[in-house]
Amino acid sequence: MIPIKNKREIEKIRKASRITSETLLLLEKRICPGITTLELDKIAFDFIKRKGAEPAFKGYRNYPATLCTSVNGEIVHGIPSSVKLKEGDIIGIDVGAGFDHYYGDCTRTFPVGAISPEVSRLLETAREALNLGIKKAVVGNRVSDISHAIGSYVEKKGYSVVREFVGHGVGRELHEEPEIPNFGPPGQGSFLKSGMVFAIEPMVNMGRKEIKILKNGWTAVTSDGKLSVHFEDTVLIDEDGPEVLT
Ligand code: MF3
Ligand code: CO
Repeated sequence: MIPIKNKREIEKIRKASRITSETLLLLEKRICPGITTLELDKIAFDFIKRKGAEPAFKGYRNYPATLCTSVNGEIVHGIPSSVKLKEGDIIGIDVGAGFDHYYGDCTRTFPVGAISPEVSRLLETAREALNLGIKKAVVGNRVSDISHAIGSYVEKKGYSVVREFVGHGVGRELHEEPEIPNFGPPGQGSFLKSGMVFAIEPMVNMGRKEIKILKNGWTAVTSDGKLSVHFEDTVLIDEDGPEVLT
């Protein structure tokens, strides 16, 4: 069953979601060559705590940090470390916050200094794929209408979509039903209803779609070593259309 949230619950998810997007705005200003992902993690932890919220990932299945920081060929679940960012890198920052027992989840991929036009095009495509998915998050559509909008656009642009990780319901738990793949045919899965809240999160690879998991047991990387980009928003399905909460 896909949970339907009431007004009171939506307010809490809205609050948690806003804290995640504010965290990313703060981090964006701090990204530069030379900063470490561990420094970014500390900034995020302090900010979320100061807002009266909890980092949602820390301790989740023993995950050790506030952020997932996925650099270049890392797709998701990069663990913050003392490695410095370099000019021309890209970094996906995924942040979750819990406020009064409700969650929000948000990811952006940022350039570090100047990047090439080829890499800009990859970032823009993943960003646009998320927007197209969000537009399908309307009452009366089905879950895979979101999936198809994302996957078909990405593949039309000549990139590939990661299969192993999917979007998800979010609210009382960080991960709730349904799973929202980023590929596949439209018109399948549950019908969308007002009061559902989804984290929609395409992961787009420049090269092949295949992944590997690093020895740390967490970090997913592209099998061909090429770049991967991740964007994610928490979205409320409302009578009046999708509302991005992040
Ligand atoms: N946004 C990621 C997801 O939806 C967060 C991973 S949480 C972690 O799966 F704790 F497992 F890293
Ligand atoms: Co998520």
